[in-house]
This record gives sequence, structure tokens and C-alpha cells, in this order.
Amino acid sequence: MKTPSSSSLLALLEAPLDRVSAEPLQRQLCRRIKDAIVAGDLPAGLRLPATRALAQELVISRNTASMAYEHLLAEGYVVADRQGTVVAELRTHAHTRTNASSPPSPRLASRLASLRPSPATTADCTALRPGVPALTQFPQAHWRLALAYAARSATPNTLNYGDPLGELALRAAIASHLAVTRGVHCTAEQVVVTEGAQEALNLCVRLITNPGDTAWVEDPGYRGGKSALQAGDLRVLPKRVDAEGLYFTATDWRTEQPRLIYTTPSHQYPLGTVMSVARRLALMAAAQAHGAWIIEDDYDSEFRHSGEPIRAMQGLVSDAPVLYVGTFSKTMFPSLRLGFLVLPERMQPLLQQPLRELLRGGHSHEQLAMARFMEAGHFVRHLARMRRLYRERQQALRSALGQHLGVPHSIEGGRSGLHLCVRFSANYADVAVVEAAQRYGMAPQALSGFALEPQTQDNGLVLGYGNTPVETMGPLVKKLGKILKGLA
Ligand SMILES: Cc1ncc(COP(=O)(O)O)c(C=O)c1O
Repeated sequence: MKTPSSSSLLALLEAPLDRVSAEPLQRQLCRRIKDAIVAGDLPAGLRLPATRALAQELVISRNTASMAYEHLLAEGYVVADRQGTVVAELRTHAHTRTNASSPPSPRLASRLASLRPSPATTADCTALRPGVPALTQFPQAHWRLALAYAARSATPNTLNYGDPLGELALRAAIASHLAVTRGVHCTAEQVVVTEGAQEALNLCVRLITNPGDTAWVEDPGYRGGKSALQAGDLRVLPKRVDAEGLYFTATDWRTEQPRLIYTTPSHQYPLGTVMSVARRLALMAAAQAHGAWIIEDDYDSEFRHSGEPIRAMQGLVSDAPVLYVGTFSKTMFPSLRLGFLVLPERMQPLLQQPLRELLRGGHSHEQLAMARFMEAGHFVRHLARMRRLYRERQQALRSALGQHLGVPHSIEGGRSGLHLCVRFSANYADVAVVEAAQRYGMAPQALSGFALEPQTQDNGLVLGYGNTPVETMGPLVKKLGKILKGLA
């Protein structure tokens, strides 16, 4: 056992405590001893002075010294034996003075290296940002009423975890809404309420793939879809998109054998292409034949602007090999973080149990309010109003591009949703345009940033019109035109 006569211990005792500090003497003493132990100045096994001697040395009451020791004992910094109090063995590297090197760098999962960083945008940089709905037009008053209704009908049970798959009232409201507006065939039991589409995508990967399985993604394609697949340790293969949507050949099916295919058939993100019925049927037939599953991300097709409504793939054939994913981020507002996954009918019984192990439910209040908002008809009315507004905003953006962009370009997409894709020559690097645009408070996105294997034609801008008022389109596009001219 070491003796208490080491110089560090004496130094510790000699320094007076601060009597004018608001921190009580007992806590100061405790902290001082703890810091010295953690720094290795009081090594393990060192016997501390008896409380009486310590009290005399520091001119404090013996009770203060005893209380400090008791606290250190309770936290495990010291141990008590028959003779008194001894510094405990903490086994922190800080104890080994000889090994006082810097701590090891944190080791992250190697799969994270494949995630591609999204371009940084600040909260006040909102104009032309894709994917954001008209936030100022959201019917706050009706939503508040729905929240108040949910609060009034709350029972002690509502405060519990809730059904891991989501509140049944909301699942039922989603199932009947999807049947009417998207032609999706499902029961409320097939619907899982998720934290936005992103959680639904993550779940699909976890539920039906093994690490190393192959997944196909549209290229250019949605970053969130790719991130979900990459974080699932899948072999992610880019598939080009032609005028009919995701393009594949019979050889691709034989040589690449995908387990999962991520697609946005009703409004390809970001190009805006609508997958033809022939391609949809061919994709589902091939998936069926090869034991693959299709994730149909139907993120913004509620806002159809021209032509006949396009039914979801999920409802085109019976027993479709499709996991249907949707979100309220565009139809309501993104911070609501509510989305849904529709399980394929034949998979639903198998997945009930695993889903109950993986999910914990919760957010019952928002879910019940959302169900109420839908049941009371506010959701459908809001969608109709927004459809008209987005049509006007898209039209304003199109004519501003025609008048003010000033460089040869082609506009793609726009038959539904909240964004347009504008391609122009690679002489104007889209990344440079986006960087310059951010300085003017605009947040368009660079088309090249959506491709895993960018090609020369993947150069342009993805422009959101959802949250950008009609009267600002002209001045904003004029600025974009100036930026492009400056790059020429
Ligand atoms: C293709 C696509 N899917 C899904 C989403 C919505 O994701 P979340 O519901 O997680 O907000 C977006 C949003 O921009 C999107 O562009």
C-alpha cells in the first residue's frame, strides 16, 4: 500500500479551498480529488489521509471531509478498507502517464464511406429548392383543430408505446385514400406508418435483403434511395433512365440478379420521366420471375398536372412484387416526418412479427391528428388547392426560363410534382452554377450530383417551384441567367 506522503497529495492538501465561491466546500474537495485521480496524480492504491487530518489541513469541518469521501466512495473513485480510504483502480488510459498519447481515432462502419454527401444548403436558402411544398399555404388552422381533436380524445393508453405498425385509424385512412387516388390495392393491415419515406426505404432494405445482395437504382436518381441501399451493405448498380423510365435488358437480369430495385415510376426523381405501362409490366414480370422486389417510391404523384392520372404500379397487377412507399412530406409538410410503406399482400403475414421487433410505435398524437385531418376532408381539399397552385408556379417557372435563362436548354418533367429538370451544355458546370446561386439565396440542385456514374448529358439544374411564389420566378431566373453568362 502506498503512503500519503507523496508530493502530489501534499500539494493537493495545501491548496486552500475557495471560501467565496458559490460551490460548496464539500463539492470543491470532491472535484479536486476526482480530477487528481483521473489525471493520474493520485495513483490507484494510494491511501488518502484520514478525514480528521484532512479537515485540519484544509480548515474545514470533519463532516465536510467525510461527506466528500462518501461521495467519492459512492461514485467508485475510492474504496474503503479497515484502515481508511484508498484510491480505486479506474483502468483509464489517463492513469498510465507513460501512455499519454492521443485517443484512438473513432472507427466508423466502412459502409458509410459509400454515402455521398448532399450539397450543403442553409435554412434561409429556400428559393427554387426541390422537394419543398408551399409552406406558407399550409392550412395551419385546420391542422391545429385536428391536433386539438387528437389531444381531446387522448386516453392514458395514447401515452403508451402504441401499435408499432402505426395507429390503425391512420393506416385505414391511408389505405382508403391510396385506393381512390393511386389505385393501390391494400388493407389497413398492410400499411406501416413510418418516419417519412426514408424510414420506409431503410425498412425495405432491412426486411428483405442480405449484405452483398444486388440492388438497382435509377441513375440519375434519388439520393435518399441510394443511401438506404448503400447503408444496407448492398451492391448498388446504377441503371440509366430513358424516355420510358428505368432501362434494363434481359441480360441484366441474368448477369446482375438484383434482389431489390428502387424506382420512382410515376415521376422519376429528378428527371421527371413517367415510366410507361409497358415498362412497368415488363419490370414487374421480370422481378416476379427472378425473385426480386421493387420499391415503388410514389413521393409526389398526388400533384398530377397534365394527362390522365397514372395508377401506381402496385395496383396494376394482382400480387405485384412491389413495396409501395409514400410520404406526407410533400402533401403536408416535411417536418411532420410521416410516411408509409404498403407491404405486399403475400409478405404481410411474414413481416408482422419482425416489424413488431424493429419498431416501437409512438407519435400517436400526430398520427391520430393526421387521421382526423384526412377523415374530415381537409387533406383532399388541401391537395386540390395545392395542385392548382403548383400548376401556376410551374407555368411561371417555365415562362421565366424561356425568357431569362439565356442559354440553350431543355426542360424535362413537370407532368406532376414540385420540380422541373433543366439540362444545358456541360460548358456551364452545374455545380458551379449551384454554388453561385446559393450566394443569392437560391437552392437549386445540380443534376450531375444525382448520378452515381454521371454522363455528359447529366448537367443542368433541378429546380423546385413548390415553395417559390409566382412573382419571384422572373427575378430568380434572371439571376440564374447572369450566373450562366458569367461562366461562359
Ligand atoms: C424521390 C423522393 N422520395 C422521397 C422523398 C421524401 O422523403 P421523406 O418522406 O423522408 O421526407 C423525397 C423528398 O424530396 C424524394 O424526392
